[in-house]
Amino acid sequence: MNHDLANEIRSKVDIVDIIGERIPLVARGKNFFGVCPFHDDSNPSMCVSREKQIYTCFSCHATGNVFTFLMNYEHIEFRQALHYLGEKVGIVVAPLATPSKHTKYDKLYQAYQFSVKYFQNNLFSEVGRGARNYLLGRGISEEVMREFEIGLSLDSRSDLTDLLLKKEYDLATLNKIGLSSDASDVYRDRIMFPLYDVSGKAVAFSGRIYRSKDQSKYVNTKETEIFKKGELLYHYHIAKEECRIHKFVIVMEGFMDVIRASTIGYRNTVALMGTALTKEQIQLLKRLSSNIIFCLDGDGPGVHATLSIGDTLLEQGIEIKVVLLPDEEDPDSYILKNGQEKFMQLVQNALSFPDFKLRKLKEKVDFRNDEEKANYIYQVLEEYVKIDDPIRIEILLKKLAKEFDIGYNTLEMRFQELKSKNVPKENVQVVTQPKTVKKDKYEKAVEQVLYFMLNNDWVISQVVKEHVVFPTEASRILASEISYFYQTYGMITVADFYTYVQEKEDILVLLNSILAGSYHEHTTKEELFEYFRVIHQYRCDQEIERLTKLMKKEVDPLEQAKIGDKIRRLRMGES
Ligand code: CTP
Ligand code: MN
Repeated sequence: MNHDLANEIRSKVDIVDIIGERIPLVARGKNFFGVCPFHDDSNPSMCVSREKQIYTCFSCHATGNVFTFLMNYEHIEFRQALHYLGEKVGIVVAPLATPSKHTKYDKLYQAYQFSVKYFQNNLFSEVGRGARNYLLGRGISEEVMREFEIGLSLDSRSDLTDLLLKKEYDLATLNKIGLSSDASDVYRDRIMFPLYDVSGKAVAFSGRIYRSKDQSKYVNTKETEIFKKGELLYHYHIAKEECRIHKFVIVMEGFMDVIRASTIGYRNTVALMGTALTKEQIQLLKRLSSNIIFCLDGDGPGVHATLSIGDTLLEQGIEIKVVLLPDEEDPDSYILKNGQEKFMQLVQNALSFPDFKLRKLKEKVDFRNDEEKANYIYQVLEEYVKIDDPIRIEILLKKLAKEFDIGYNTLEMRFQELKSKNVPKENVQVVTQPKTVKKDKYEKAVEQVLYFMLNNDWVISQVVKEHVVFPTEASRILASEISYFYQTYGMITVADFYTYVQEKEDILVLLNSILAGSYHEHTTKEELFEYFRVIHQYRCDQEIERLTKLMKKEVDPLEQAKIGDKIRRLRMGES
């Protein structure tokens, strides 16, 4: 890794801009705060420092500089982050000068890459005519087939399995990764849709029937080491760029919907591949955009899923918008029938989730029945209680009062009553309690000194001059890396040092802990020496403890006396 280049690029970008393009940041004092994208949260516990060019989450302790942020947020490697930022500031970074990291899953990914190509080849050859015609008949052009790498599995027992066996794969592996079952292909005579992970690698397939009707419509790859259905969203790797341009994301049920939407220019879309939304998928969605529009199928299950997902997300402080499709339509069929213009209008007129919910509530009410009507109004108020915006509440209450010819004050009073009942729930959200592990006085002293070193070069010299010996392996390595960095570059900043150590996992844990702790940046010589004394005392105590144990085990009285003498000298402060 070229550190000079990395440091130069890092110094030319502002971490606040880069993070701010991805998550909303609010300035508070010298720092900026936002909702941390690296854990499940709705509080602004991530602090971004412009001065230090690092970020720290007080809740999950995610820490780092602009490179690590991009690597974790975009699921990219260091080289890619460097390349991306280099482009921003006009510094050319040769892409892939270093080969991308090899993982133990490389062989599995390669099997999928191969299968994708193999299936595609089938689709575009003579045997694929029937399947191709089916797709063309559904309005999927060859160009779109290629874009989404759609393919075809053959109506044969083990075509793919045999090919892969010839390519240094064994049956056990092929079974494990869901391409074969016993010695047969898992997919036969189905249209194959590759499913991609967050970085865009094919990790599974969904195979659709296209001529027989007596089998299940889709067969999906079983869960494997590289494919966890609940941890990915279809089309995420494309949507992540597109959502930044369009500033919103549309969530659909099926990949056919996503594919269709792309044909009319909407590529800021992802598919759940069903109607369930997992915790991991919520995290992914939050990364795509804070403006989330749900457009599930217009049928019962679609509406039901929207209601339950909307409630779940609202509890986490995420308010979605909802596009209502006519019953029995999905985005695919709707777009096919009505075209781009009409779909665009639907998206532009998406309802806020509370409005959607109320509309659904209302459909069931018989308004000639006073009791049902009153009941409905109470339910509406219950929904309003969840909205954290007094001005909007007032507008909504006025509308409601007018619609049902009820006094505004009556409604307002009932609303306040309901709200006061709900108070405890709201309080939970307000304060973020930093989840710090309790550190003792010595640990704190060590971390504080290391933090001084990171911020003041004179402290580095003092540590060297005074021969301070840190008590743990990690702290010793970190201290020597800090000195080394300073000697090499003649200066030190936390952000650049962070780039330097990012592959050294043994010290990264300690460094993260230090950065997430609230340590002082600057010190005086007197204070520093007081910390040195505490650290030294700790080393002595450790040594005394060790020697005491040793002495108890020792049988030779002469040796015992020697050890006793050492202990005595340590106690008196001579080392
Ligand atoms: N699905 C599945 N298994 C099924 C049915 C559905 O895995 N037996 C998933 C698929 O990922 C599919 C999504 O649920 O993309 C939505 O299902 P559905 O609405 O039935 O599929 P469509 O997108 O309408 O597909 P098509 O138009 O081809 O019927
Ligand atoms: Mn469909």
